[in-house]
Amino acid sequence: MSALDDYVATFRGETGYLNWAAFGPLSPVVRESMHEAVETLGGWRAREHLSVYGRAADALESLALLLGAERSEVVLRPSSTDVLQHAFYGLSGTVIASASEFPSISLTLQRAADASRGELTARWIEPADGRVTTDAVAAALDDEVTAVAVSHVDYRTGYRADLAALRELIGPERLLIVDAVQSFGVVEEDWQSADVIAGHGYKWLRAGRGTGFARFSARAQERLRPVLSGITGLEADGPFSGPVPPPAHNARAFSTSVPDHLAVARLAAALDELRAVGIPGIARQVATQTDELLAIAERHSIRVAAPHDPGSRAGIVSLLPDDSDAVGAALAAGGVTATVRAGAVRVAAHAGTSAETLRMLDEALAQR
Ligand SMILES: Cc1ncc(COP(=O)(O)O)c(C=O)c1O
Repeated sequence: MSALDDYVATFRGETGYLNWAAFGPLSPVVRESMHEAVETLGGWRAREHLSVYGRAADALESLALLLGAERSEVVLRPSSTDVLQHAFYGLSGTVIASASEFPSISLTLQRAADASRGELTARWIEPADGRVTTDAVAAALDDEVTAVAVSHVDYRTGYRADLAALRELIGPERLLIVDAVQSFGVVEEDWQSADVIAGHGYKWLRAGRGTGFARFSARAQERLRPVLSGITGLEADGPFSGPVPPPAHNARAFSTSVPDHLAVARLAAALDELRAVGIPGIARQVATQTDELLAIAERHSIRVAAPHDPGSRAGIVSLLPDDSDAVGAALAAGGVTATVRAGAVRVAAHAGTSAETLRMLDEALAQR
């Protein structure tokens, strides 16, 4: 069996689960790592606790490798929203973002602007279907713009923004702030275009909550003031006496306190698995599943919000039936888990989604 086959086998028993864009049930290695860490931290030998604490360094190393970043650019955080807070609260000037972004971008940006005493302004764009294309950004771009914030993959439509094209458009001086929640681990991407990458492990990585992470590029470190920097944001570990030291000169500056060791153990395990399998294989499998979801929608003549171009898709397909509540009820009755919201039924398949699940979706849609 290949590493990818082994990975797919870890989804064994999965039936009807098409809600990966909301939450990913914890994988076997993640659960195992959690149990081990709980036992170790429940022991009385402090030296043994160190093996759990050490998983933070492992997770950071894996993230640096998978994001093509320097180790000093990567930091662990409780959530992706927390990462975006560090980014927006430290920024000045004008930030372009779509008004229909997930609130982790829109709300956080607005709150940061409100608190900035006029130093930060949100410039909202309302592109067709919420797609943050280069054309949509170009129409709003001027000398006041210091950053563009975008979800790499839109949480509703599954539209995958072209990060390289956005970077080319905005040039080297402005920051590109990217929410990678719906793409990291299941999409092949050259992350070099992004200055801030905010992600988490509780959906596609199957690692549970508390597993946020970030990359702050050298340019981001230069441009962002670490206004929310906390006790882990210093150059050296541990308490200090005397004058309060300045924030660290690396991504650590954008951290507040020691992360939850149990969450870190889960994230580290998920990242180990991801490295062993390789993102390209997982991404190919997810793309095939997405094609299958689209084919099922077409078979039932249901409109979708998903992009036509396979290069602009990831793992999310939004069905736009005439009666989304009726479809939602049919899926629930057929044992299919999905997200029904605002007239759409969002389905998302992972690499290990079973043929049985796709068949259940097909049958449930026939019943609507
Ligand atoms: C695109 C996107 N960004 C951010 C979040 C929230 O992330 P977190 O809970 O890590 O703050 C979600 C959750 O669904 C999301 O879909």
